[in-house]
Amino acid sequence: MNRTVEVLPDSTALIQRSLELVLARMQAAIAERGRCTIALSGGSTPKPLYEQIAAQNLPWELVHAFWGDERYVPADHPDSNQKMARQAWLDAVPIPPENIHPMPTDEADPAIAADKYEAELQAFFQVAPGEFPTLDIMLQGMGDDGHTASLFPHTPALAVHDRLVTVGSKDGQPRITFTAPLINHARTVLFVVAGASKRSALAHVFAPVDDDATYPSRLIQPSGEHIWLLDQAAGQDL
Ligand code: 6PG
Repeated sequence: MNRTVEVLPDSTALIQRSLELVLARMQAAIAERGRCTIALSGGSTPKPLYEQIAAQNLPWELVHAFWGDERYVPADHPDSNQKMARQAWLDAVPIPPENIHPMPTDEADPAIAADKYEAELQAFFQVAPGEFPTLDIMLQGMGDDGHTASLFPHTPALAVHDRLVTVGSKDGQPRITFTAPLINHARTVLFVVAGASKRSALAHVFAPVDDDATYPSRLIQPSGEHIWLLDQAAGQDL
């Protein structure tokens, strides 16, 4: 297992270290391949990180932003991950609109939205059906229950291995989510996790043996860089 874990003293240090790692990998991607492709996570933890990224001087025309998951709500809904990232970061930088690739949430059937986003990824990365593209950076959070993206415990999305994007479900509410295999194909998977409420799930996610369906973050075993950044409150038992 190529996982590295860093426990930072507090949330401020966690965000600062996250920024350092993300920036280095964005700049390396641009230097090596002429562009950076990054998938954003939602929730609350990454918001200050997005605000810090927005203050950087990067060649934004070479950056492409995707989402690793999305709540199935309109783009202007307070729960929208797209809304949060646009307000915290993307609206504050001169990134071309066509470089922002939100998950669609305007189809009556979420499965059609998932298919559309998969097709968009296949076209952008020029991969055939059944092939997995390699994004440069996957930003991941982890819920108190051990979920990541919208791969929630004991949901059908966990068993989807032949697609890039599928429909997730949280308490019966639909989500659109990257599949575990797509996340695992990234060059760098970076988890940023904060707060004592994550401690219990982290113990199960990091245990040598436990139940992947109950703690879906265990399904993330990338062949590339696998980095967990934790604040002391979350990572003190590790
Ligand atoms: C979402 C996220 C989700 C998130 C975790 C942690 O849509 O909610 O993508 O996977 O990363 O739930 O959320 P917090 O950062 O708010 O604890």
